[in-house]
Amino acid sequence: MTDKKFIVVAIDGGAASGKSSTSKILSERLDLMYVNTGSHYRSITWAILEGDVDFKNERSIIEVLKTLPIGHLVEGKEARITLNKQPFGEEIRSEAVNNAVSLVAAIPVVRQYLLEHQRSYSNLAKNAGFKGLIMEGRDIGSVIFPNADFRFFLTADEAERARRRQLEGQVDSIQKRDQLDKTRKTAPLTCADGATMIETTHLSLLEVAEKLQAIIQSGKDT
Ligand code: CDP
Repeated sequence: MTDKKFIVVAIDGGAASGKSSTSKILSERLDLMYVNTGSHYRSITWAILEGDVDFKNERSIIEVLKTLPIGHLVEGKEARITLNKQPFGEEIRSEAVNNAVSLVAAIPVVRQYLLEHQRSYSNLAKNAGFKGLIMEGRDIGSVIFPNADFRFFLTADEAERARRRQLEGQVDSIQKRDQLDKTRKTAPLTCADGATMIETTHLSLLEVAEKLQAIIQSGKDT
């Protein structure tokens, strides 16, 4: 990694594949602004559920989105989405949100609504003086930043991922979410062409982070 070049790192993968934890470690070590795009879909899902809107009705969704101006809030190394100037807390990790988020994330108008917002974090990170941006989700290397300097796709056995989620104390049907995420028409969960796939089932979190860090610091473009 050259000293002055601003870098964009895209991390994608299925549910509980370790994207967030790995991204947070790399953001601290390499001074990259960290953005978790799953929380964007979760926040919108939470707002839709709160408003008691039928998330299968695209017109109602569009009405909700109109009343939810999005912004951001930078806290330490992390930039978080705000809806109506409010950032969200643990409520976006509830069982109700876990159950609905993949259905909401499959709605094209929701993805369209978030696209430019997510791309705008690159300038935000530059202007805030970070050395780069690390963004994680499902379509970062395929749709949001297909020209990212580094694109990784994390995988792990489903049983191991379910175990990790359980350790976090969450009720989460990761298999169902993955299936919906892989099969939706718009921006499905996929390892983008040319992205580096990292199998993490038998690796510790630190081992995964070390592996990615080594690739980034060797400057090898994905
Ligand atoms: O933490 P976990 O990997 O379980 O999920 P998440 O990153 O919080 O994402 C929650 C859900 O948001 C996913 O299951 C997808 O349905 C959706 N999502 C998406 O469609 N595209 C993204 N870039 C990020 C998340």
